[in-house]
Amino acid sequence: MNGRKENQQPPGNGLIAILGAGSLGQLWAGYLPTGKVAFVPRPGSTAEPLAYNLERFDGSVHPVSVPWLNNPEENPSLLLVTTKAGDTLSALEPHLHDLPPDTPIVLFQNGMGNQQAVAERWPHHPVLAASTTEGANRPKPGHTVHAGKGETWVGAITEKARPHLTPTVQALATSGLTIHPEADIHQRLWDKLVINAGINAFTAILNCRNGDILNQQLYLEHIDALCTEMAAVLAAEGCRPLAPETIRQRIEAVARTTAKNTSSMLSDRQQGRPTEIDFINGYIARRGRAQGIDVPVNQMLTDQVRKLPQSPIRP
Ligand code: PAF
Repeated sequence: MNGRKENQQPPGNGLIAILGAGSLGQLWAGYLPTGKVAFVPRPGSTAEPLAYNLERFDGSVHPVSVPWLNNPEENPSLLLVTTKAGDTLSALEPHLHDLPPDTPIVLFQNGMGNQQAVAERWPHHPVLAASTTEGANRPKPGHTVHAGKGETWVGAITEKARPHLTPTVQALATSGLTIHPEADIHQRLWDKLVINAGINAFTAILNCRNGDILNQQLYLEHIDALCTEMAAVLAAEGCRPLAPETIRQRIEAVARTTAKNTSSMLSDRQQGRPTEIDFINGYIARRGRAQGIDVPVNQMLTDQVRKLPQSPIRP
């Protein structure tokens, strides 16, 4: 802690910058107040604002136009990072020296490992992580759909971020989306990780929607061993202990409520993009090995997803 008051105002001008103009970045940009949000340019961005239609969860469609941050003096109050997990370090690297050291960075990536890597690389920045159940997709260019109404929890990853939690949550709440401060973001990230680890790889390997994994032989053969591995790793990592059966029930409850959804990993695979497997089952396998726990199922799923062809497939 740096001794400042918990409810301090965020530095800067109230502008929220978003690094990563994919579905999740466009979702937040579309809900945050107009004039208070800008995308951070990446190679290939044009000077023209990014224009698209946002189909809100209530079905209404709103035209959105988001400028690119192009003036280094235009210091944002907050930086949201909505890149894929594997792109985060390289996407942040060129911008960190221009960012005032007090500007909070909120990481929205799926999985784990990436938050720790950013905190290790920039330990003196206020780094926070968000765990969100909001769902967004882009069925066609220029059209972003808020497909799943969810909630977002934000918590401090670095010590320096703790005093920034309340103002960060307040700034994000101006979107009208549901957002909560989270005192133990580590636990919440793990809770989500085990669900992703029990759904995403199976959907990517089997090329099926979330609900369809439940009757597949690959899933039925491995799910109990997978949950046993995850229960052991959770306990070793200092998380709230969970019985393997409870983990399986949670996975299956989410697979049923999102039965018709295409998981983020299958969607990456369908579009020929790298998947986030190294931050999901791959991360659990790494933590398991570091803790001396056997993790053959997490490793098998990681290996199988890594071997999948990198070219787009038909849904
Ligand atoms: O990564 C995803 O797609 C989602 O988090 C989940 C839980 C698999 C539901 O679609």
